[in-house]
Parts: sequence; C-alpha cells; structure tokens
Amino acid sequence: MLAGMISSVRQQLIERLADGEFHSGSELATELVLSRTAVHNHIEALSGYGLEIYRVKGKGYRLAAPLSLLDAEQLLLGRSVPLHLFWQLDSTNAFLMARRERCHSGEACLAEMQTAGRGRRGRPWVSPLACHLYLSYFWRLEQGMGAVGGLSLAVGVMLAQALERCGYADIELKWPNDLYLQGRKLGGILIEMQGQIGEPCDLVIGCGINVAMPASMADLIDQPWADLQGDSAERVDRTALAQEVLAALATGMQQFEQQGLAPFIAAWGARDRFRDQAVTLLMGEREIQGVARGIDPQGNLQLELASGQIKAFGGGELSLRPQWQN
Ligand code: BTN
Repeated sequence: MLAGMISSVRQQLIERLADGEFHSGSELATELVLSRTAVHNHIEALSGYGLEIYRVKGKGYRLAAPLSLLDAEQLLLGRSVPLHLFWQLDSTNAFLMARRERCHSGEACLAEMQTAGRGRRGRPWVSPLACHLYLSYFWRLEQGMGAVGGLSLAVGVMLAQALERCGYADIELKWPNDLYLQGRKLGGILIEMQGQIGEPCDLVIGCGINVAMPASMADLIDQPWADLQGDSAERVDRTALAQEVLAALATGMQQFEQQGLAPFIAAWGARDRFRDQAVTLLMGEREIQGVARGIDPQGNLQLELASGQIKAFGGGELSLRPQWQN
C-alpha cells in the first residue's frame, strides 16, 4: 500500500474507481463501511484532486477514463535499494533532497501526485493524481561536481531509451533536458545537486513524463505538450513505464559515473529535435539567435551565429526555443 496524505478511505475509493466502470453508491458504501452520504462527499472531494467523476442515476459513479495506478507490489519486488512510494507529496525531488545524507545511489521516489512539483527555472510542474510519471532518483557522484557536466543530456538519452523499450518510437530530445514527442514537450528533467568542492556530490534527478493529460489540466500548461496516451484506446501502464525508467537510470548512471557523457553523445545526436533549425537561446534577459548545430563532447549546445561562427553554450539557466515560437 502506498503511503501519503490522501486519506485511506479516498485511496480505497480511487482504487475501486480506477477500472473506469460504474460502481453504485451502495456497493461502495458497503465495501468501505461508510454511509452513502459519506461516499458522495468523498467522491466530491476527489474532484479536487483533478479526477473527473461522473454520477449517473441508477448506475452510480464512474471515472471519465480508467486510471493506471502505480502497483507498489510489482515496483518493490526484488529491489535492493529503497524505493519510496507515495500517494501525494509536495515534490519527489524535495523529498530526496531532504534525506540525501541518508540516501544510497539508486534510491528513488515516486508519487501518484505532487502538490508543489518543481520544474526548471523556478516553474511549477503540473502533477495531477495518477496521470503522469513523477519520479526522482538519487545518485552520489564520487568524482564530485566537476564531473556533472552533460548529465542532463545523458539522462535524456536514458529516458528516451526507456520509453522506446516501452514501445514509444520517435522520442526526441531538446537541449538541455526536455523530451519531445511529435514536436511537442513530453517530459522534463530537473537535476538538483549539493556538494563541496573536492568531495562526492549528491544528485537528485527528477523526471516528469506526461502519460495521460486530463482535459482539466491541459490549459495550465504554457507550451505545446504531448502525452503517451494520445488517441490510443489501450491504457498506458505507468508501473511498467516506471520500472523501465528505474532500470535505465540504474544502468545509465553507472555508465555515466565510469565514462561520463561520451557513450551518450551519439544517441543524443540521433534524437536531436532542433538540429539545423533556427533557434533562440534564452540567457536570463538576453536572447541569442542562431542555428542549432548539435552538441560538443562536453554537452554544450553549438550555435551557429549570423556571422557564421559556431559558439558553444553550456551550464546555467539556458533555455532554447525554436524561432517559429518567438
Ligand atoms: C522541466 O521543467 O522541464 C523539468 C520538470 C521536472 C519535473 C519532475 S516531476 C518529478 C520531479 N519532482 C519534481 O518536483 N520535479 C521533477
């Protein structure tokens, strides 16, 4: 059973409604040992978590679409490093950052929803209940901060490969750390770190992947987005997706620790969304225009400027956007 702040009764209600079928008020009341009024009130409250629930006289309650809840039993099976599972958290990144001194490399955290999901550049990350993947992964990089360069690109490759193993072809990457599908943002990576010069550094790698965007949330997102569900009738299995992502991070982080970015460069280049396209690079208040020419061995973006010179940009709070979006 997942832990968290959504009350146990509401968790049980969500678990029963997850199949997307009708459940009558009296059936739910009997199963959960509640009055029908209490069932009704809890159902009303669930709408506050972003769940769309229909009530039809004579039939009962039904979710607008079935949910693929995380299966704790499957996720925990055979794990040697802790995996923390929650119904609700402020942020999976914040959770691991707060306990990083006790964490082991490979320790991870997943939540069904986040109330204060963190995006890059101080933005919120919309994290409705049981819709997407909210996963954070801890790693202690023995070589320290100096070896972190290019990590977000390597993680992008790890996630793209995990998605491809789940059957999603054509995942693309946008420098420095976005996943794209059909030309729209599918997911993002937020790496937070803490460490002293000359010592190992603690990394929390946060991954957000859109699985099935509910209509009620779509307007809150300020850029074109994609989700894995798309028009498919078959529900995306979030547990299988989480397992592939965890496995890809476990293998990929070992490789990054030993060899750095080098083994990921070609795979990144093969998925480069904006290669040879006119882009604008945002650096705080500054905007630089040019043509994206891939990445260099350190993972810097190579931008061809109007003068014809190719200049490398890296680090900091840089953000790229295609010029047609200006
Ligand atoms: C971005 O802005 O593109 C990065 C988004 C990263 C979101 C993920 S969801 C899991 C983890 N926990 C957070 O609070 N943020 C990251």
